[in-house]
Amino acid sequence: MEQYAIWGVNPLVSEVEIGGAKNAALPILAAAIMTDETVIIDNLPDIKDINVLLTAMQNIGVFIERIDRHKVKINASRIHTTVVEGENIRKMRASYYFVGALLGKYKAADVALPGGCAIGNRAIDQHEKGFKALGAKIRYEHGSIIAEAIDLTSANIFMDVVSVGATINIMMAAVLAEGQTVIENAAKEPHVVDLANFLNSMGANIKGAGTDIIRVKGVTSLHGTEYTVIPDQIEAGTFMMAAAITKGDVTVKNVIPKHLECISAKLEEIGCEVMESDDAIRVVASKRLSGTQVKTMPYPGYPTDMQPQIAVTLGLSMGYTSIIKESIFENRFKYLDELRKMGGVVTVEGNIAIIEGVQEYQGASVTAPDLRAGAALVIAALAADGFSTVDQIQYIERGYEDFPEKLASLGGRIRKVTNPEELKKARLRAV
Ligand code: EPZ
Repeated sequence: MEQYAIWGVNPLVSEVEIGGAKNAALPILAAAIMTDETVIIDNLPDIKDINVLLTAMQNIGVFIERIDRHKVKINASRIHTTVVEGENIRKMRASYYFVGALLGKYKAADVALPGGCAIGNRAIDQHEKGFKALGAKIRYEHGSIIAEAIDLTSANIFMDVVSVGATINIMMAAVLAEGQTVIENAAKEPHVVDLANFLNSMGANIKGAGTDIIRVKGVTSLHGTEYTVIPDQIEAGTFMMAAAITKGDVTVKNVIPKHLECISAKLEEIGCEVMESDDAIRVVASKRLSGTQVKTMPYPGYPTDMQPQIAVTLGLSMGYTSIIKESIFENRFKYLDELRKMGGVVTVEGNIAIIEGVQEYQGASVTAPDLRAGAALVIAALAADGFSTVDQIQYIERGYEDFPEKLASLGGRIRKVTNPEELKKARLRAV
């Protein structure tokens, strides 16, 4: 019964160090197996998704040495199978990155089909389309995707939807294909660029990552490298929103402000002060928050992974009506039922949420339905009057390192409880 026990309301104040980006680190780890030489990766977040991926790599024969909590040494010269399976790997979306990596290197992959957060249909047809265009045959058996090719040859691939995962997967496979592959309508997210930079540091020839046309000139092999993962845009954004919702003053450190521009802009629009320096952003929320409209979009638009955090914040824009349009995933408003338990006034019509700002939330027992919504409910609880619990925190731990500890270091009254006795004590302390 692991839960977060939370007491509101304390403004969050001070500085917090942001870790490496989960969604960059996952494909980078998978891509690290594409060379037989040693790769060192730094600034890895110490979170469940990363640890599951590392274990899956060990299971196929990859040597992994943890140099420290955030740095690993990887050598994939002794991979003995291209079959990646296991209960944990099935629960995560990023398992599919092994398809691109193994197909590129060994021209064969048999990978357990992805799970991940239940936020929508999450098709993989664009991945399949890309692999097939490169010459692979794809089939599905025993709950896995099996990709095989005699040779991979370059192709011009136009993505029907902008997909982070498909762009990354095709890029990985194309790196060791013959000729120049062109990916059009590619995703432009910072983690797509980070993976391209990582692969280039291994000797790949990728141009255009960060624009919607990526050109990959195939090379015959990749070599070892040492690489540092970019900071996590969404972790940083979550703490920025936590500052806003608790009327606090928080500086997120070790960030790339450019990656956070659309979040900073929304915060300014609703009445926060946002101050940028080279690698930090300070958010001060001293005025009453106002409402706004948000539409989630592929980068550089407002990220879907920051939709729940801004929704709970707008829920406290007393006297304003805000509109949120979710245009990436069709099922990403489930947490609003939980927010209603805290007194949030929200209506959902299809992919649009209408939020009527209230004066305050009240503490409640809520359940995290997925990673980002879970984090949003935590920050809502920090801004709620009284005592709250958030359960199903395994979702949150998939993507946030030391989340309660970092929030507590900013003055948030939150702690993880693991049994009824601890919960009882936590509840009593609230009175
Ligand atoms: C990545 O998921 C992230 N996951 C998600 O982060 C993030 O929400 C998402 O990108 C959007 O930014 C990882 O990086 C591991 P997509 P991904 O392919 O790659 C449709 C988090 O909280 N689509 O960009 O799976 C799809 O259904 C997680 O950290 C197809 O139709 O997302 C969706 O509507 C949650 N066919 C849209 O494209 C395909 O073949 C974008 O999905 C692929 C996708």
